[in-house]
Amino acid sequence: MAEVVIVESPEAAGALVATEIVELIDSRSDAVLGLATGSTPLPVYQALRAKLAGRDVSQVRGFALDEYVGIDPSHPESYRSVITREVVEPLGLDPERIHVPNGAEATIQHAGEDYEAAIEAAGGVDLQILGIGTDGHIGFNEPGSSFASRTRVKTLTEQTREDNARFFDSIDDVPMHCITQGLGTILRARHLVLLAFGEGKADAVAAAVEGPLTALLPGSAIQLHPHATIVVDEAAASRLQLADYYRYTFANKPAWQGI
Ligand code: PGA
Repeated sequence: MAEVVIVESPEAAGALVATEIVELIDSRSDAVLGLATGSTPLPVYQALRAKLAGRDVSQVRGFALDEYVGIDPSHPESYRSVITREVVEPLGLDPERIHVPNGAEATIQHAGEDYEAAIEAAGGVDLQILGIGTDGHIGFNEPGSSFASRTRVKTLTEQTREDNARFFDSIDDVPMHCITQGLGTILRARHLVLLAFGEGKADAVAAAVEGPLTALLPGSAIQLHPHATIVVDEAAASRLQLADYYRYTFANKPAWQGI
């Protein structure tokens, strides 16, 4: 079973996950982080700013989960721009070591394979940060995605385009296609840390953690992973049947285990 940690706020979640990431970097200066975009991981990046201050992060490597297809990388809402703005610059990472799938149309046919090869050449992802969409997607693996999928082009659902329209002038400006790490790619990361906050994510979290394994709910793939940690606030945890057990387990967890 995935480990579920119920925290009181997104800030508490950010501090918990950032502590784990700092320990990873302290143990391995060239750690490979799996980076997610969206609102959810922001408290982690915020907490990392303070915790990493003064540390040498020049060797840290990173791979983003996904990118829109056909968006100019310099567009403020391209995931290349978002990762640069939210992660690379504030944390002082080396931009050369931080990879984002290439959504350029000219090379899109082999962009997925290129990305898989780059992850493999880096030795795989040590810790993958994940959010979850209201439709249960992780990365941009929309419902119907194969659990064995690799990095490839997907068509965004209308729901996801509506959810992401807030970052654009209108829904018409949200790209139709994306390139995303597959569920199989994500499952190869050594530690998955999925975060979710707010009532709007409660159904998706419950289905991913406690529901059946199904392509209809791509987040349920986390149940196949030997080391998955789900960090949620009370609202996002509100539909979990075993919430009391998760609280009890975490409260009694030996401190040395981390998350
Ligand atoms: P959000 O998106 O963090 O902005 O809610 C999560 C996702 O769509 O994966």
